[in-house]
Amino acid sequence: MLAVLSLEDAGLTPDAGDVLVTGASGGAGSVAVALLAGRGFRVLASTGRSAENGEYLRELGAAEVMDRRELSEEPGRPLQSQRFAGAIDGVGSTTLANVLAQTSWGGTVAAYGLAQGPDLPTTVLPFILRGVTLAGINSVECPLPLRERAWEALARELDGDVLDSMTTSIGLSETIGYAERILAGEVRGRTVVEVTQ
Ligand SMILES: NC(=O)c1ccc[n+]([C@@H]2O[C@H](COP(=O)([O-])OP(=O)(O)OC[C@H]3O[C@@H](n4cnc5c(N)ncnc54)[C@H](OP(=O)(O)O)[C@@H]3O)[C@@H](O)[C@H]2O)c1
Repeated sequence: MLAVLSLEDAGLTPDAGDVLVTGASGGAGSVAVALLAGRGFRVLASTGRSAENGEYLRELGAAEVMDRRELSEEPGRPLQSQRFAGAIDGVGSTTLANVLAQTSWGGTVAAYGLAQGPDLPTTVLPFILRGVTLAGINSVECPLPLRERAWEALARELDGDVLDSMTTSIGLSETIGYAERILAGEVRGRTVVEVTQ
């Protein structure tokens, strides 16, 4: 929600064009897809697992599902064809560099994660030639007024059934094995750890 609010604060509206979500099957990515679609944006969901998770992402509200390799494999030219009015990125690295290069004039990219890596192999060209903004998101040190705004918007907009559909609960004793499955890319959506089990 903090990433969605940062796009909104930058002036992004649904009529501006498609909004990309990277790492779309992940915990934060799944929520981003649902929230953006709920606000009327046309959402492109980038995932490495379109065969398994394509239907899941469409049910969350994605209009299109794209293969993450289009963005993650190699850094392309610093300015590429303009495809996205905005983006929410949980992946970083080569993916974020390509997202910036494919963001339309004046667009905003909210970066919150580093699932591919913390590096950013880009140049200043998307910023100075296309007026692209890279907005950083940090939920841990977020000031209270913004935190309250985000929670209020989540309470209003994130449907409980949709949240349930993207959530798996596990017991505390299962966490080590489950963490290995997360790293192997076998888990989607959010995981709740029931600490009493
Ligand atoms: N800034 C903040 O406040 C904040 C808050 C929460 C989380 N985070 C960070 O945000 C990131 C995502 O968190 P999460 O909880 O959503 O994690 P997650 O559930 O593990 O989701 C990450 C997703 O990224 C994609 N991915 C994984 N490895 C990749 C790779 N090598 N290349 C490209 N895509 C890859 C996968 O999606 P597909 O299978 O769909 O491709 C995966 O589901 C993490 O880096 C986390 O530390 C930051």
